[in-house]
Amino acid sequence: MKRLTYAMIGGGTGSFIGAVHRKALNLDGRAELVAGAFSSTPERSRQSGYELGVASDRVYGSFEELAREESARSDPADFVVIVTPNDTHYPATKACLEAGLHVVCDKPFTITSDQASELRDLASSKGLVCAVTYNYSGYPMVRHAAELVRGGMFGRIRKVYAEYHQGWLATELETSGQKQASWRTDPARAGIGGSLGDIGTHAEQLLRFVTGLEVETVCAELTSFGRGRVLDDDASVLLRLSDGAKGSLTCSQVCVGEANGLSLRVYGETGGLIWRQEQPERLTLTALDGSKTVLSRGSDRLSERAGHATRLPSGHPEGFIEAFANLYLGVIEAIESKRDSREPGPMASEVPTAEDGLLGVRFVEACVRSAQNNSAWTPV
Ligand SMILES: NC(=O)c1ccc[n+]([C@@H]2O[C@H](COP(=O)([O-])OP(=O)(O)OC[C@H]3O[C@@H](n4cnc5c(N)ncnc54)[C@H](O)[C@@H]3O)[C@@H](O)[C@H]2O)c1
Repeated sequence: MKRLTYAMIGGGTGSFIGAVHRKALNLDGRAELVAGAFSSTPERSRQSGYELGVASDRVYGSFEELAREESARSDPADFVVIVTPNDTHYPATKACLEAGLHVVCDKPFTITSDQASELRDLASSKGLVCAVTYNYSGYPMVRHAAELVRGGMFGRIRKVYAEYHQGWLATELETSGQKQASWRTDPARAGIGGSLGDIGTHAEQLLRFVTGLEVETVCAELTSFGRGRVLDDDASVLLRLSDGAKGSLTCSQVCVGEANGLSLRVYGETGGLIWRQEQPERLTLTALDGSKTVLSRGSDRLSERAGHATRLPSGHPEGFIEAFANLYLGVIEAIESKRDSREPGPMASEVPTAEDGLLGVRFVEACVRSAQNNSAWTPV
């Protein structure tokens, strides 16, 4: 099978998530890195390109140059991965889509919802894939959870708790010059949400992905515990969901001792489920009589959807990279099916889209408006 090729914007030496994307893309050997504008300066981009083994004539000094030059080639990269700080997502995605290139952009999709809806419409009018890496929906047990909840196993859903708790910004790390903390606490680069945009959007998408419910209205309290911080590092949000369900979403980056404490609890009329990212291979089902059943990834009892996202037998742990790679299998399937004018396989429909990205940005905006308005209930 011929491998696809991809370019990367961001993800230079010393950056965080770009390397994870590359590892995930390497896992199944279905795509090869061939080009990039890896850093904000041409010199650093060149250095990163050299370290990554990218041919020097395909290492670009800016994303504008990358979009222009790649689209002019007879063999352009099949898709572009955007892993820069948030403020560059919109212009870089726009440049690539306008140049006719498929895009995978990290979250939060854009700074404003106007930008996100413009990109969604642009991708759709050009018939291009524009995916957003809400990677937690790539876990097999999350996909199984979605199968159960959306399939009605627990009856009508009444209550949903989504949480994402970290502790790494408990001190003012940004004042030490730490790169990831510096831009995440700067509204010009991160957008109007702090923890809300950075990790709250993951929890919001996870909730929607599993339950199929929409977040309709929010009542939010945002706090900046870190001295001198403008953006929230802690958020508590009550949710009114579609179909009369209620929920809450909390995210925080000052919960000392927490690492990537993303969890989802869903309760319906006849039962519920619990999934925790730090133990991603388990899904706990709860029943009316109080009994609990723990399902394990890889077991024969799981849905086809979980099976498609599984590489190893149970007991050989899979994790974060595999979940990320599952998203990419869907992206590759979506791109190949467009290229070959055929129906995409089942993984493609699991891929979070520009519409999901837009809903995440709208969620952040609604929470900020609510918090500024004395936590008034605010429509998303
Ligand atoms: N999906 C996830 O689980 C996940 C996890 C972490 C970060 N993220 C998202 O990924 C993005 C990057 O986060 P990070 O932690 O890797 O940041 P980072 O600061 O570690 O890396 C950002 C990279 O982008 C480069 N860059 C900056 N401006 C650029 C430009 N104009 N052109 C080209 N390159 C440019 C930087 O040089 C650096 O290499 C953010 O949007 C973040 O929200 C997602």
